[in-house]
Amino acid sequence: MNITILPFDTIESTNLEAINQARRGADEGLCVTARQQTAGRGRHGRTWISPKDSGLYLSILLRPTIETRFLPLITFVGAVAVFETLRELYDLKPDIKWANDVHVNERKISGILAETAETEIGLAVILGIGINLNSSNFPDELADIATSIENETSKRPQKGELLRTLISKSINFYEILSRNDGAQKICKEWIARSTYAFGKQVSAKLERETITGITQGIEENGALRIETDDGKITIILAGDVEKVRAVSIESNAH
Ligand code: BTN
Repeated sequence: MNITILPFDTIESTNLEAINQARRGADEGLCVTARQQTAGRGRHGRTWISPKDSGLYLSILLRPTIETRFLPLITFVGAVAVFETLRELYDLKPDIKWANDVHVNERKISGILAETAETEIGLAVILGIGINLNSSNFPDELADIATSIENETSKRPQKGELLRTLISKSINFYEILSRNDGAQKICKEWIARSTYAFGKQVSAKLERETITGITQGIEENGALRIETDDGKITIILAGDVEKVRAVSIESNAH
């Protein structure tokens, strides 16, 4: 695949720009980056706060030919690529929180948002990746739940090297997904890097209910299997999954 990088200084959202480029017929492999986003998009309609030079903001345009049911696995491609990049370049020990948040020391360092767009030459998928480079501009509400490369390594990351490695790993895992049995292979790659795959006590917040139980692997499309107390398996396709923390019960007895 030919990689073309389209860098911006300030932009609304690299995902939005990549969608517009896709609609104008841009090829697979176009990578939109920005130093700052004024309307960065997060999952579930949230905003991805994107101050200047505080994060890596990247969107890769893909034109996948895989079966539609496997499209959610493109976010897994992003998550394993981020995981490998952080491990290789900075010796960090990341974890992938289902479905595709990358954490280091239990705090979020990277988020992934894949968006689809119908275009005249077929379906495009935009793989959007945000990685926190430093924490100095985190708003108060993120201070306890987010981290950054600089925070974890005490060094300022070299952006060019980070971008090159991340793009190359993303394309590599995407090419694996596109081959025969690619879906199974990517699920295996994801499982190998996530403590959420099996045996994790979690609580999944869905639109109308919250499911609490123990994770029991993933379906072939990446959906999470949660075993509830009654022994039933519930399959979660979308939603926010949180680890349930052990509650210490304090005794009032004197
Ligand atoms: C999440 O909510 O965890 C996903 C966040 C994804 C943010 C990235 S930053 C680059 C790309 N452009 C966007 O507008 N969003 C994604």
